[in-house]
Amino acid sequence: MSIQPIQDPGLPTHVHRKADTDPVAAKRAERQVAILFLISALGTLLFIFSYLAIPQDELIFLPIMGTTNAHQLFLGLGLAVALFFIGMGAVHWAKTLMPDHEVVDHRKEQRSKDEDRDAFVATIREQGATAGLGRRTLIKRTLGLSLGLVGLSPLLLLGDLGPLPGNDLNETNWKRGTRLLTDPALRPIRPADLEVGAVAQILPELPGGKKHSLADIAKDAVLLVRIRPEEFNLDAERLSWTYQGIIAFSKICSHMGCAVALYEQNTKHLLCPCHQSTFDVTRAAEVIFGPAARPLPQLAITVDADGYLIAKDPFNEAVGPSFWGRDSA
Ligand code: FES
Repeated sequence: MSIQPIQDPGLPTHVHRKADTDPVAAKRAERQVAILFLISALGTLLFIFSYLAIPQDELIFLPIMGTTNAHQLFLGLGLAVALFFIGMGAVHWAKTLMPDHEVVDHRKEQRSKDEDRDAFVATIREQGATAGLGRRTLIKRTLGLSLGLVGLSPLLLLGDLGPLPGNDLNETNWKRGTRLLTDPALRPIRPADLEVGAVAQILPELPGGKKHSLADIAKDAVLLVRIRPEEFNLDAERLSWTYQGIIAFSKICSHMGCAVALYEQNTKHLLCPCHQSTFDVTRAAEVIFGPAARPLPQLAITVDADGYLIAKDPFNEAVGPSFWGRDSA
């Protein structure tokens, strides 16, 4: 098959960029690229600072966003700035300083001849030299700095792999005598505060009035439900864990750990919205539908001398989803 000669497609005359002909413009473009890479490096430093120095539950108020988590906000901002400005720097570098010659590329047979392949390698090397990476030390160094810092940031995240949880997954802040506090008001609650048919989200009172961290809430959250005492279908021991028709369960679903957030007053069923596991309140949160394999752990409750609801004991079993080493049946 013969190769047809290439027709002139009629492209407009090539206009050279200013940086191609004016060394001052080239130097200015070089500085602009370097500034973009430096901003990227600052973004990575912000990312590292946020990860190491801003507590995970630190809150900040911003006019448009309202109250938001400062740790996550600055972590995201830092990474976004780092990646965006590396991209900007690379694009600006390519548009202003990289070689701008128009090249006609003839179609070849499938495999090029050896001499053509050698010529290609030589061209790549030559273009690499023309790009001036060797000469433009400012760009080379700032690019190295920004890429190096971005490359380091994933190493920080390795810190999240440890330490090992130890017994943390089996323990909560609920101890014998811990007061039940309403969430989010954090007020102690008396039996009379909860009408029959009502449900309340509860957290434990922490020693010394300590603030609840997100990790605490993820394990300690409790749902308090009040029904008529005669509606319970429990053995004597489980019945003694309730108080005047009030029963307390872990809010963390025993399937995969979502918040069990829906209560059907008529049927007295608690429903997990993630995969529709349904638990029967009258029978100690026995699973009556869905993929959960265990009932919700129950918290035995009573009242203290002042008439406030307190825990009689910690949860009867570990809260949260089933996993290896934790019985799933
Ligand atoms: S997490 Fe609750 S049903 Fe799956």
